[in-house]
Amino acid sequence: MPQTTPKGLHRLAFGGDYNPEQWPESVWQEDVRLMREAGVTMVSVGIFSWALLEPERGRYDFGWLDRLLDLLHENGVRVDLGTPTVVPPAWFYRLHPEALPVTAEGVRYSHGSRGAICHSSPAYRAAAAGITTELARRYGGHPALALWHVHNEYGVPVSACYCDNCAAHFRRWLDRRYGSVEAVNEAWGTAFWGQRYGSYEEIDPPRATPTAGNPAQRLDYRRFADATLLENFRTERDILRGLAPGIPVTTNFMTALSQCDSVDYWTWGREVDLVTNDHYLITDGRRTHVNLAMAADLTRSVAGGAPWLLLEHSTSGVNWQARNPAKRPGEMARNSLAHVARGSEGAMFFQWRQSQRGAEKFHSAMVPHGGTDTRIWREVVALGAGLDALAEVRGTRTVPDVAMLWDWHSWWAQGLEWRPSEAHDARERADSFYETLYDRHLTVDFAHPESDLSAYPLVVVPALYLTTEAAGANLRAYVENGGTLVVSYFSGIVDEHDAVHPGAYPGALREVLGLTVEEWSPLLDDQRVRITGPGGASLTGDVWTEFVVPRGAETVWSYADGPAAGRPAVTRHRLGRGTAWYVSTRLDAASLDAIMAAACEDAGVPGRPGLPRDVEVVRRAGPGGHYLFALNHSPEDAAVPLDGTGTGTELLGGAPVSGELTVPAGAVRVVRLDG
Ligand code: GLA
Ligand code: ZN
Repeated sequence: MPQTTPKGLHRLAFGGDYNPEQWPESVWQEDVRLMREAGVTMVSVGIFSWALLEPERGRYDFGWLDRLLDLLHENGVRVDLGTPTVVPPAWFYRLHPEALPVTAEGVRYSHGSRGAICHSSPAYRAAAAGITTELARRYGGHPALALWHVHNEYGVPVSACYCDNCAAHFRRWLDRRYGSVEAVNEAWGTAFWGQRYGSYEEIDPPRATPTAGNPAQRLDYRRFADATLLENFRTERDILRGLAPGIPVTTNFMTALSQCDSVDYWTWGREVDLVTNDHYLITDGRRTHVNLAMAADLTRSVAGGAPWLLLEHSTSGVNWQARNPAKRPGEMARNSLAHVARGSEGAMFFQWRQSQRGAEKFHSAMVPHGGTDTRIWREVVALGAGLDALAEVRGTRTVPDVAMLWDWHSWWAQGLEWRPSEAHDARERADSFYETLYDRHLTVDFAHPESDLSAYPLVVVPALYLTTEAAGANLRAYVENGGTLVVSYFSGIVDEHDAVHPGAYPGALREVLGLTVEEWSPLLDDQRVRITGPGGASLTGDVWTEFVVPRGAETVWSYADGPAAGRPAVTRHRLGRGTAWYVSTRLDAASLDAIMAAACEDAGVPGRPGLPRDVEVVRRAGPGGHYLFALNHSPEDAAVPLDGTGTGTELLGGAPVSGELTVPAGAVRVVRLDG
C-alpha cells in the first residue's frame, strides 16, 4: 500500500510553489524566516529547474538544491519536490528539435516558454526518465522530502501533438485498441465520405482538414493524447516509487477548469498516490465561489472521496486573464477554507515570493512585491494560524448529499463539429445544475456514468451526449432501485465511437426516461420559449427545444409557445421504486430551480431551507470528529443552525457554540460538533 499523505507532514499543508533559483541565496534566509512567521508547512520546489540541475547533457549541478533542501529541513518546512520535466533545457532542444510539438495546422512550436513537449518523442522520454532517476537517487532519502510532484499540469499548455512521431505512436495505439484496420474502419464509420483505410500507414492524426473531420477519429485522438500523457506520468512515477519507496507521488491536476479538459481525471485519480489540484478563480462575472466549490467537489470525487490537496491557488489576482481583479479582503481565506471544507488537506499557492522577472511577475504571491507591510502578507499570516488550528480535520471526509454525472469522454465528443446547435454548451449546463444544488446547500459528489450510484438519493445528468449502453443500464437500475434522476436534453445520444444509438433518441436513456424524442429544434439567438405547468406557473427556456413523445412518462410542464408548442417540455417517469425527470430545454436559473425543487422533494433532500444562498455550509466527518464549515460569501451577517446536538466548539476562535452559529459577513467558522 503506497503512502498516500505527504510524509512527515502532521499539519494541514500550507505554503506554495517556491522558486528560489530566481533569487540570490541571501534572500533564501529571509524566505525561511518569513515561512516560519507565516506557519508554512510545505513548499513545492524544483518544478522548472531542469536547466539548472542539468546544465549540459549528463552534467549535473545539485549543490544549490542540496543547500535549499537542507535549509528547509532545518526550518521545519516539508518539501514537495518536482521532477522538472515540463521544461527541458535549451541544449535538449538543440539536440532534439523533433521533440518540439506540432499543431494540427503543422506549426512546430519553439522553446522559450514552457511545456513545449511532444510526449511521444523517444528522446524526450529518455531525457525525462534520466533526470527523474538522478533526482530520485539523490533526494529519495532526504529528510525534508514529503511528496513527489511529477511534471506540471499534464495537458496544458499543449494537450496534443500532431507530429510524425505521434502519427506512428497513434497507429500503434490504434492497433492495441482495435486489433485490425478493419475494426478501426468500423469504429470510425469510414464508409462515410469515402474515408476507408487499407492499412495503418494510411492513418494520420486528425490534422487540419478542409471541412469537418471524422468525429470518431478526433475523439480517439483525444483518448490517445490522454493515454500518451499518462504513459509519461507512469514512467516517472514508477522510477520514483522504485528508488524512493514511502514517498507518495502526485501530479497537479486542473480538474474543473474548462480551459483544461484534455485529461480524463477519472483514470488519473487512480494512478496517483495523492490527488492534488490547482484552482484559479475565473472572473467571467459569475459567482466565483460556486465555481470553486464545483472544482473542489470534482477533485474530491476523482480522489474517490478521499482527502486530496489543493496544491495551487492564488493569494490575490492572477495575470493570465483579460482582467485580473485583486481578491477582496478575506476572500483568500474563504477560498482556502472552502477547499478544505470540500476535502483538501490544506491550501497551497502559486507562488511563495512574487517574481521580479519573467512572464508571471504580475501574478500575486504569498510575499508580494510590496513585502510584508501589505494586506496580502497579513492575510497570509492569519491564514497560516487558521490552518494550524484546523489540523484535527485531517483525514476526515466531506459528506456528500447528491451526485452529478461527469465524463470527460462525453465532453470531448460534444466539442466535435457540426452539432444541432453551437449555442448548446454542455459545460454551461453542468455549471447551472451545479449552481442550483449549491444554492440549496447540497454537497455534490461527481460520479462516472458507469459507477455505483446507489448511495445517492438524487443524481443529476446535465448533458451526457455520449452515454454508453452500460451507463444507460446503470441509470435504469439506479432508478428502478429507488433513485431520483434528473436528465437534461441532448443526453444519451451516441455511443463511445460517437455513433448514434440505434432507434429513436435518446437511445441509451429512452427506457429510463419513458419517452422518445422525434426531432430537435434548437432556437435562434434571441428566441425564448415559455413553458407552463402545475397551477398555471410559467418558466422560460432558450437555446433548445425538441419534440418529446411520452412513452410511459407523465408530462409535468408543456411548451406554451415556440416550435414545440403544446408538447411536453418537462416529464417525470415513475419506474420501479424511483423517478426519472427529463428537461428538454435550457431553463434559466429560476426556472431550473423550480424543477429541481420538485425533484429534490421526490428524492427527499431538503438541503438547508431558509439559509441565504451565499452562505456555504459543508460537513467533514471521520472517526475523530464531525465538523461543520460555514463560509459567508455574502455582505450580511448570517446565522447557521448547528447540526446534531446543536453544540460544539468553534475551532478558529476556540470558543464553545450552541444553537445558532453566527457567521459575520465575509467570515468563516468551523465547528467541531459535540458527540
Ligand atoms: C499554473 C501553473 C503555475 C502558474 C500558475 C499561475 O497553475 O502550474 O506554474 O503558472 O498556473 O496561475
Ligand atoms: Zn508529437
